[in-house]
Amino acid sequence: VHWEDTELSAIASTWGHVNQEEIGHEALVRLLVVYPWTLRYFKKFGNLANAAAIAGNASVRQHGKTVMGAVDQAIHDLAHVDQTYSALSKLHSDTLHVDPHNFKLLGNCIEITLANHFPGEITPCVQGAWHKALEVIASALSKRYH
Ligand code: HEM
Repeated sequence: VHWEDTELSAIASTWGHVNQEEIGHEALVRLLVVYPWTLRYFKKFGNLANAAAIAGNASVRQHGKTVMGAVDQAIHDLAHVDQTYSALSKLHSDTLHVDPHNFKLLGNCIEITLANHFPGEITPCVQGAWHKALEVIASALSKRYH
């Protein structure tokens, strides 16, 4: 994947003032509400009976933060996401058995959440850069599936 300097600086600029915990939480809640089949992976999180329960669930909040920690690692080194996510991809494949299509869906939820929070800043060009970064992340997470 080739990265333009303008794309990298747009991503770094947005990321610089993102509240990762808040964005992670909102994006994960959106995933679980809009794509309810993703709930099946999180049974041990307790009450996820409806949108309000999902939004108020402490494990969901904690997990949003965990996911964003991994996104942060990727964003800081977009040229090497495959290597960065090697073990994480194996975990999602061999242990968690997450259908990799869901990575794209979570990526889209992160993109929408960013656009909601920074409407003036996420121009079509900036959104394009984010879309690309989130596709790179989804692709890297899918690499160790077989
Ligand atoms: C766990 C990252 C997408 C399901 C994790 C962990 C990280 C992570 C860092 C913790 C790993 C550890 O404990 O060592 C990501 C990233 C994603 C992504 C960066 C995409 C941007 C998804 C999706 C699903 C999913 C789409 C399911 C729909 C899970 C589950 C766990 C997990 C079930 C274990 C949770 C637990 O036991 O507490 N993920 N993930 N992940 N992920 Fe993902």
